[in-house]
Amino acid sequence: NYYAILMAGGVGSRFWPSSKSSRPKQFIDILGIGETLFQTTFKRLSSLIPAENIYILTNKKYVEVIKEQMPQIKDEQIVPEPEMRNTAPSILLGALKIHKANPNAVCIVAPSDHWIKEENKFIDSLQMAFDSAEKNDRIVTLGIEPTNPNTGYGYIKYDKEEKGEIKKVDDFTEKPDLKKAKQFLEAGNYAWNAGIFIFNTRHIISSFEKHLPEMFRLFDKGDKYWNTDKESQFLEENYFKAENVSMDYGIMEKSSEVYVIPVDFKWNDLGTWSSVQYELPSDENGNTAINAQLLLEDSANNIIASNSHKLVVLKGLSDYIVVEDDDVLMIVPKSDEQEIKQLRQKAMDEF
Ligand code: GDD
Ligand code: MG
Repeated sequence: NYYAILMAGGVGSRFWPSSKSSRPKQFIDILGIGETLFQTTFKRLSSLIPAENIYILTNKKYVEVIKEQMPQIKDEQIVPEPEMRNTAPSILLGALKIHKANPNAVCIVAPSDHWIKEENKFIDSLQMAFDSAEKNDRIVTLGIEPTNPNTGYGYIKYDKEEKGEIKKVDDFTEKPDLKKAKQFLEAGNYAWNAGIFIFNTRHIISSFEKHLPEMFRLFDKGDKYWNTDKESQFLEENYFKAENVSMDYGIMEKSSEVYVIPVDFKWNDLGTWSSVQYELPSDENGNTAINAQLLLEDSANNIIASNSHKLVVLKGLSDYIVVEDDDVLMIVPKSDEQEIKQLRQKAMDEF
């Protein structure tokens, strides 16, 4: 009864120019390990979940990349969204299809662009979450011990003293402002949301009915089409009408039956070039090469990425991100890495 909704429709704009809207970060080998994040995630999930029960929710423009990177999966496992509508509609769609295929399904929603070390610990926690969500109508999350007031994450408030490995969540706050994030960190009884949700499909569908009723009604009209050859036409005609909202704002902040398993495996959502560098070896001066060869003098703490194993020669450059792609060369100070998103937008508008 184990299923997965693998979320693979995001754009990864902070990894431009390596991550492009034609090939976002989940489909590139951003760590230089010989496989893409999407491939790694699929493998990780299939150690607990039958491979044929892993549904890949994605934008229709990525169907070909997915087939290329995972030739063994069947067409029916790829669910193309005609429009980008954020994560809530795609999770509802995945849940409805899976529920139709198996009304007793328990399911994980997993991002396709994260890095998890110590996979055995991850699998143990996942097994525990599946057991819990199979028996109870609840949403189980995995909580990461926070290390800084990062405003890019969801924060899970829970009672650390509560007995047992699965704890009731008091409150879920998606992407707080910096002031709140600092308070949360100081308070000590918060975890970061790893972006992973586990539930039985019956429960999640009724949660959508309760918290996002319009979206529920829109998709409910498609009930007779799921998993048939009429499904894609129904989606073409209706998907764009769905509210653009994330699972975190649309469901998690409003649900009362949320639980958390605090986990201690090493987790990195690879949100920025620096976070990628953190996972990779660097030379004695803190320079990291991704698919590049380096000849460096008087240069320290750089990240240098290529898509073609080019030799990069630098002298007197420190604390920079240097990324080279077929048609773009980007050189940006590390301290400005959050601005890459905006630079990308400008570059796309003007060139
Ligand atoms: N299929 C599909 N369709 N997938 C999507 C879409 C979409 O429209 N939009 C985003 N995704 C995918 C992304 O590729 C990613 O794998 C996942 O859904 C989560 O989306 P993000 O856009 O990366 O979310 P986030 O990082 O801002 O926030 C989420 O993850 C954090 C942890 O990394 C939230 O769940 C936070 O609470 C959490 O802390
Ligand atoms: Mg993310």
